[in-house]
Amino acid sequence: MQHFDTEIVGAGGTGISRAAEALRAGQLVGLPTETVYGLAGDATSDAAVAAIFAVKERPRFNPLIVHVVDATAAERLVQFDLRAEALAESFWPGPLTLILPRRPESPASLLISAGLDTIAVRVPSHPVARTVLEAAGLPLAAPSANRSGAVSPTDPRHVYEELAGRIPLILAGGRADVGVESTVLDLTGSEPAILRPGGVTAEDLTAVLGTVGLAAGSDARPRSPGRLPSHYAPATPLRLDARDVAPNEALLTFGPDLRKGDHIRNLSEKGDPAEAAANLFAMLRELDRLNLPGIAVAPIPDTGLGVAINDRLRRAAAPRHSPPTDGTAG
Ligand code: TXA
Ligand code: MG
Repeated sequence: MQHFDTEIVGAGGTGISRAAEALRAGQLVGLPTETVYGLAGDATSDAAVAAIFAVKERPRFNPLIVHVVDATAAERLVQFDLRAEALAESFWPGPLTLILPRRPESPASLLISAGLDTIAVRVPSHPVARTVLEAAGLPLAAPSANRSGAVSPTDPRHVYEELAGRIPLILAGGRADVGVESTVLDLTGSEPAILRPGGVTAEDLTAVLGTVGLAAGSDARPRSPGRLPSHYAPATPLRLDARDVAPNEALLTFGPDLRKGDHIRNLSEKGDPAEAAANLFAMLRELDRLNLPGIAVAPIPDTGLGVAINDRLRRAAAPRHSPPTDGTAG
């Protein structure tokens, strides 16, 4: 892999034009989005897409999301239907990814969809991501900017921790304020199915679509090939739904909880799931750095954004496995 002296640059005019130039030259850039930081590359270039897989050490069977500036740009890549139009109208720009049939004339690299005949598309709302998309004039493939299987980055310094030396440039755009990834919704079947719970809740989607299913792990067709059980994983083991904390454990708590200390973080004292989502990955990183034997995690209500938070926590707590490549995904 090529070595770079990775630079973090501010998202002013110079930063934006350097990022756009690098992307047009086929290089990769760490880019803020409203959900998490992305590792962006030209989605129409096989070489750039291959570099994303290499830099992340991501298994090739796990397809990437393509980011575009608006629904019109998305429609050049994929075939919309009435449901997609209604969803784009309601939730774009924002944390919703739609899986739709690839257009035969789509300029997107075949590598992004890992052999599937569908493409995941999303229109981010973060102003820096939008400005870069406009300046580069390209659809951008952008998985989360972490090494495969690790905790997703919500701050430019996290991207540096994960990818320093592997990419030339990280654009700094503050903390990602949603904090969990976009909701991935499959629209290729007769029933819309959530493949990954995320920033747009099932309740929000139901309000627009009527019914929405949550794709079960037992689905005969592996529709979201990259969703492996272990993911978002800190090095420290997690213990979920903890009602107590052992003397040598760190604690990730939620809601009114008077316990304080260096080894304690509260996702949201007021019990607000949006605040908890925004804090989740940064607090997991902070507690992981303490190198204690474990992290106890208090229960979090499993509704609204809590569903996405619990999904990430379950995968962060899942037993690690070691398949042929590197073990995990995304
Ligand atoms: O919020 C987000 O979505 C972030 C930011 C950077 O935009 N991106 C992100 O990308 O989370 P990534 O690559 O880490 O996750 C993409 C997810 C994976 O679970 C992948 O399997 C699924 O989307 N996916 C991508 N293309 C797909 C396709 N054609 N069919 C089914 N699932 C797909
Ligand atoms: Mg990821």
